[in-house]
Amino acid sequence: MTAQILDGRAISKEIGEEVAAQVAEFRAQYGFAPTIAVVRAGEDPASVSYARMIQRSFERAEMGFVPHILPETASQGQVLDLVNQLNADASVHGIMVQEPLPRGIDEDAVKAALSPAKDADGVSPINAGRLAQAAPIGRSSTTLNYLVPATPLGGLEILKRSNVEIDGRRAIIVGRSNIVGRPMAFLLMQHHATVSICHSHTRPLGDVTRQADILCAAVGVPRLIKGDMVKPGAVVIDFGVNFVDGKMCGDVDFDEVVEVAGMITPVPGGTGPMTNVMLMRNVLEAAQRQCR
Ligand SMILES: NC(=O)c1ccc[n+]([C@@H]2O[C@H](COP(=O)([O-])OP(=O)(O)OC[C@H]3O[C@@H](n4cnc5c(N)ncnc54)[C@H](OP(=O)(O)O)[C@@H]3O)[C@@H](O)[C@H]2O)c1
Repeated sequence: MTAQILDGRAISKEIGEEVAAQVAEFRAQYGFAPTIAVVRAGEDPASVSYARMIQRSFERAEMGFVPHILPETASQGQVLDLVNQLNADASVHGIMVQEPLPRGIDEDAVKAALSPAKDADGVSPINAGRLAQAAPIGRSSTTLNYLVPATPLGGLEILKRSNVEIDGRRAIIVGRSNIVGRPMAFLLMQHHATVSICHSHTRPLGDVTRQADILCAAVGVPRLIKGDMVKPGAVVIDFGVNFVDGKMCGDVDFDEVVEVAGMITPVPGGTGPMTNVMLMRNVLEAAQRQCR
């Protein structure tokens, strides 16, 4: 069997067009664009190129992009002052603070300082807590509005738009980071999957991953998930972005797993392109809520 390839580029293009259409409506109604402020301290090359990518996609959708670049020597007080200033700035609807921040800056304190309403990538403890406490889909909820990290949101959207049944299925997430694995687990549980989370202490990993109808890998170890760790016909979502000999690869051994799985996201071209458009959608939604 050869798995169906889940084309993240095509899905992200579709979502990008939907967001651009809603941005046009927003601009017509309010006379300004949903705007993200991206904060960076220093010139970490990966952060510089990620910011450039965000800028390109926001500008393509006629959304606002405002960079705030502090020096590598910035203090925690300077970063917090900037975050507080952006929290109070009505022309900014979403804020993203890029990591890594310079040594000595407490990244958790910076996340906690973000206004939850403007926390574009859902990293503040308030947004993480609201996601953790959110009611399952279809049940009434008193949880206030919240924002979800863009990468797992993109993985969920791939599943939904590929008509993958989530309700009642067994989902296994490998990785428990706050930015990918953990929120992905909450999203899938919210959609009525039965969820388990694996991590570096899970032994043997394959015994758990083989139970998955939906297997998500967010590990950061190139090609960790082998063909014999996957149930035949499973849907495999690979969040991994690794470079081996200058070539990008995922956390899933694509060549092996494509022969076993029913559906699989490639790397590149799977979850990667989704992150940007989900960030755009988050900022649009944040702006809509702030203007209501
Ligand atoms: N597609 C995107 O746009 C996007 C965005 C963000 C990240 N990523 C990629 O997603 C991957 C994960 O990123 P992250 O930020 O979540 O990484 P992270 O913070 O380093 O977390 C990695 C997780 O994997 C677990 N782990 C490590 N080695 C393992 C092993 N041998 N067996 C089982 N679990 C293991 C760790 O377990 P412990 O908790 O026990 O340490 C941890 O929970 C990376 O490749 C990253 O580049 C992609």
